[in-house]
Amino acid sequence: MGSHALPGAAVRRKIRPLLLALIAGVLGVVAALVAPPPAQAAESTLGAAAAQSGRYFGVAIAANRLSDSTYATIANREFNSVTAENEMKIDATQPQRGQFNFTAADRVYNWAVQNGKQVRGHTLAWHSQQPGWMQSLSGSALRQAMIDHINGVMAHYKGKIAQWDVVNEAFADGSSGARRDSNLQRTGNDWIEVAFRAARAADPSAKLCYNDYNVENWTWAKTQAMYAMVRDFKQRGVPIDCVGFQAHFNSGSPYNANFRTTLQNFAALGVDVAVTELDIQGASSTTYANVVNDCLAVSRCLGITVWGVRDSDSWRSGDTPLLFNNDGSKKPAYTAVLNALNGGSTTPPADGGTIKGAASGRCLDVPNAGTADGTQIQLYDCHTGTNQQWALTDAGELRVYGNKCLDAAGTGNGARIQIYSCWGGDNQKWRMGSNGSIVGVQSGLCLDAVGTGNGARVQLYTCSNGDNQRWTRS
Ligand code: G3I
Repeated sequence: MGSHALPGAAVRRKIRPLLLALIAGVLGVVAALVAPPPAQAAESTLGAAAAQSGRYFGVAIAANRLSDSTYATIANREFNSVTAENEMKIDATQPQRGQFNFTAADRVYNWAVQNGKQVRGHTLAWHSQQPGWMQSLSGSALRQAMIDHINGVMAHYKGKIAQWDVVNEAFADGSSGARRDSNLQRTGNDWIEVAFRAARAADPSAKLCYNDYNVENWTWAKTQAMYAMVRDFKQRGVPIDCVGFQAHFNSGSPYNANFRTTLQNFAALGVDVAVTELDIQGASSTTYANVVNDCLAVSRCLGITVWGVRDSDSWRSGDTPLLFNNDGSKKPAYTAVLNALNGGSTTPPADGGTIKGAASGRCLDVPNAGTADGTQIQLYDCHTGTNQQWALTDAGELRVYGNKCLDAAGTGNGARIQIYSCWGGDNQKWRMGSNGSIVGVQSGLCLDAVGTGNGARVQLYTCSNGDNQRWTRS
């Protein structure tokens, strides 16, 4: 038989299965190469699930509980960020003036880092948990002691802390919108910015946060006061990077769906946001999932920290507000949180929609679908054209055509509203008021319709709660 002759039938029978296997193998490889990747597998721990969208899921750790193996096992398994519940506070780290003690703080810090977790620092300047020597100081001596404390603690952890709560709980509860009275406040209203400037100098690598409670509801005076402070700091260049929302929800301070608005509006000022001490009286699964989804909806929301592991570890254990039962088993709220984290990712780009005036029933419209920078906005009968589709971005821009922004050409009453190429300026950022107003971040004035007919102008004007300043987004 010549070398080019076909193999005999017996040989063909032998190699046929081999050939088929080879072809099947090659096809399998090709199929694997062209098949879409499998859907992202759901993660089975809170930290890993949050990490899918670049966020963390953290927990407050008490040093003296780390010897409890149930506690340490859950904490290590589920969370990838740690806050010391009490150990980095002023009384713990500087019990005597000038004598720093990091024994307990380092126990928490080292445990976190050895287990691959990031650390939030909590907290440097606070009216509460001051050591006796600090409580008895006032005026310039207290001011200097605050600065020395910031320098001492931040030097110890320089380059090691992801976020520091530089100032904690400086605003009063209730409807005043005032600062909380405290020995620190009595050193002068500028104590907060002094603390932030000292902190930036002490450790330029840490994100510097202002942290407070009862500031989650956008309509509350305390929230608005904190917002005004952060806006002022950003305008004047006071170094602030993030705002922590403690989120201790209970019947006196219940979760409200406008928390997402709050997070968005702060993010639009140019700061990161974080949920820093979450616990919910009764641990409603729905409310826990809502909070997670609110954070996931805001690209500048860095992550969520719950204030303890099991209910029995909580400062409010009677409220059973956490994700684990006393025996370490998972509560329904745990599953709700995990599912929300697994379902979420970073915010998809916002879809456009119309913005309809309450007085006119007409929509914000770019005349003749113009695209030139400076084209003045009008009211017009609502339709589905692209010149009426406005997308609210996480930064607070209202974008049309993808790259043009609703732009205030001034800051005073009567300032013209136009489209302009998006460039990140505060005159292109807007905050959605709970009453339907659209407020310019730079001016603090409202989007105001001058008339109700087709072609009516839109301008900035002092907010009045009038129907010509109320808008609904579809
Ligand atoms: O460790 C001592 C113990 O030796 C002593 O026998 C006992 C007697 O009262 O006190 C123990 O210290 C307590 C400490 O927690 C540790 O458990 C303090 O009294 C108690 O005041 C302290 O409470 C802490 C509270 O801050 C103080 O303001 C809570 O654990 C802590 O969860 C809580 O955390 C704060 C955040 O820092 C800021 N936001 C609000 C949040 C809840 O209040």
